[in-house]
Amino acid sequence: MTNCNVLKLKPVFFDEDTEKTLCELEKTRCEFWNLDRDCANFLNTLIKIHNAKNVLEIGTSNGYSGMWILGALRETKGKLTTIEFWEKRQSVARNNFKNHFPDVLVEAKIGSAIVVLEDILEEIEKNKREKYDFIFIDANKKEYIEYFKLADKILKNGGVILADNILSHYEKVQDYVENLFNNPSYQSQILELGTGMMLSYKNK
Ligand SMILES: C[S@@+](CC[C@H](N)C(=O)[O-])C[C@H]1O[C@@H](n2cnc3c(N)ncnc32)[C@H](O)[C@@H]1O
Repeated sequence: MTNCNVLKLKPVFFDEDTEKTLCELEKTRCEFWNLDRDCANFLNTLIKIHNAKNVLEIGTSNGYSGMWILGALRETKGKLTTIEFWEKRQSVARNNFKNHFPDVLVEAKIGSAIVVLEDILEEIEKNKREKYDFIFIDANKKEYIEYFKLADKILKNGGVILADNILSHYEKVQDYVENLFNNPSYQSQILELGTGMMLSYKNK
C-alpha cells in the first residue's frame, strides 16, 4: 500500500447505526462547519488519554464533534456541556445525542457563548457546578480571546483547552494564540491537523 492510500484510511470506532449518522453528517460538514473525521478522532482520543470527565464544548452545531466527544465520555464515564446560539442546530444535535448516546450525560445550552460562560462561572463560584477538565473551543473565531479569559477561570489546573481553526483563521485568533503562548500558566502547541488546532495544557 502506498503512503497516499494509508492517509485515505479513516478510523471507524462506533456501532453501525452511529457510523451511519456520522457519515450522513460528514456529507454536509461544510454547511455546518463540522470538524473533519481526523480532527474528531484526535479530539476523541485526547479526551480518553486525559481521562476527562467534565468536558465543555463551545460551538455545538449539529452535534458532529459532540458525538465524538460523547463516544470518549462513555468510556471515561464523564459528562458534556455544549453551547450553541442557533436553536435549530442545537435541536438537531440533541436528537443525535439522544439517538446514539442516550447513556451519556449532556447539558446542551442555547445562547451566546460569552453569556453562557459567564453564567457557568457564576455557578462555579457559588459551588453549584464543578470546574472543567477539558474545554473544546470551536465557535466565533473573533471571540476566542474572550472565551479564553472565561475558560481559564472555569478550567481546573492540569486541564486542557483544544481550539480549532487556528491556522485557517489566524488573523482572527491571533490575540488568542499570542496570549496563550505568552501565558506562563499554559504550555501550548499548534498542530497542523485539519484547519489547525491549538492544544494548551494548564499547569498544575
Ligand atoms: C464551527 S461550528 C461548530 C462545529 C462543531 N464543533 C462540530 O465540529 O460539529 C461553530 C458553531 O458555533 C456557533 N456559534 C458561533 N458563534 C457563537 C456564539 N457567539 N455563541 C454560541 N454559538 C456560536 C455557530 O452557530 C456554529 O454552529
